[in-house]
Amino acid sequence: MSLLAPIERIGRDPRTGGYRRFAWNDADMELREWFAGEAAARGMAYEEDGNGNQVAWWEPGYREPGGLDTPSPSGSGYSTSGASGTSGSGYSTSGASGDALLLGSHLDSVPDGGAYDGPLGVVSAFAALDRLRADGFSPSRPIAVACFADEEGARFGVACAGSRLAAGTLDPDHALALKDRDGLTLAEVLRSQGRDLRTVGRSAWLDRVGAFVELHVEQGRALVHSGDAVGVATAIWPHGRWRLDFEGRADHAGTTPMADRRDPMPAYAATVVAATRRAYEEGARATFGRVAVEPGGANAIPSKVTAWLDARAGDDAVLARMLDGILVDAREAASASRVRVEVAVESSSPAVAFDRDLRERLAHALEAPLLPTGAGHDAGVLSAFVPTAMLFVRNPTGVSHSPEEHADDADCAAGVEALVRTVRELA
Ligand code: GLV
Ligand code: MN
Ligand code: MN
Repeated sequence: MSLLAPIERIGRDPRTGGYRRFAWNDADMELREWFAGEAAARGMAYEEDGNGNQVAWWEPGYREPGGLDTPSPSGSGYSTSGASGTSGSGYSTSGASGDALLLGSHLDSVPDGGAYDGPLGVVSAFAALDRLRADGFSPSRPIAVACFADEEGARFGVACAGSRLAAGTLDPDHALALKDRDGLTLAEVLRSQGRDLRTVGRSAWLDRVGAFVELHVEQGRALVHSGDAVGVATAIWPHGRWRLDFEGRADHAGTTPMADRRDPMPAYAATVVAATRRAYEEGARATFGRVAVEPGGANAIPSKVTAWLDARAGDDAVLARMLDGILVDAREAASASRVRVEVAVESSSPAVAFDRDLRERLAHALEAPLLPTGAGHDAGVLSAFVPTAMLFVRNPTGVSHSPEEHADDADCAAGVEALVRTVRELA
């Protein structure tokens, strides 16, 4: 926890103990300043791209007294070197144009999120660089620490928006038109924070990256069962978010006979029950964690129920089959209640298999077990472009996206040690 202590209070709700760090809100802005300060304190070259992704660079070459930074002669620190992609001792750079080793994660949270999902990867990366520097280690390639913007998509609905925009897999115009719960668009929010909308989209800095290793708290108990402090990821389950709008007719709760209603609530409720049954049957996951009822009066039939389905499965075909079934169920339930249902996909992520060479090399070097995950990550987005791996740190509760999420200090230290060894192995 000492690693996380400097940011412990930022965005924490005193009532629930959970974090409310949403893209570009006050807590997120404070965390952005904290990240930039950590980069500056280490003399690292710092940049924020047009999508809000923050990157701090440690360049190989010469050592600045008192700093990690070894800026290029131009002073930009990161724009001119390191694009050779050749190294006898490095990872495979096929598909990647740069040679930098990227570490890091994200600092935003889900509503009432835990302290570790995201921040552990960021603070551990800085701590690992501190250790390497104290040991006199000189990297053979640039090393960067990133904080990706809006990983959870808690505000605008699209998970991993920062990394998707940077990688060019999320259309900037589509992203800028996304709205938060108050109806503010991402464009309006970025403008109000003084950001330049013309720079939203594909990020040049990613071209410098030859591999990405994201450390993350485990969101399950596989490491508790195996008895290991640290594991290496094999794969991410395919997953996505779908918004279902059930539209009916508002009316009086007392005077409207049941047969005369066009009530969207029973259609929504039947869809939840059907989705839960299908997820059990498929060995998959279906969750409705967010619902909005309009107008929201206890004595009025709702005019509209909007619900968000988060669906995941072990492979793409199972997910597609389950989703098709849930949508058939939703339409049948809507028709039985004489309401309309419309479905929109908010974000979707296909199955990810992490780079085989990299994951096996790290599992061997760290003597760590391999495990898959049902959680999404920026590492999943980047894995389509560069060899990518993830390290998981044991979570004794197994709980995540909740204040109960936890990692013991000793395991966090083991995570930092694993990152140190990862850097020594790869850089
Ligand atoms: C991110 O944590 C996700 O899996 O939704
Ligand atoms: Mn998360
Ligand atoms: Mn995360």
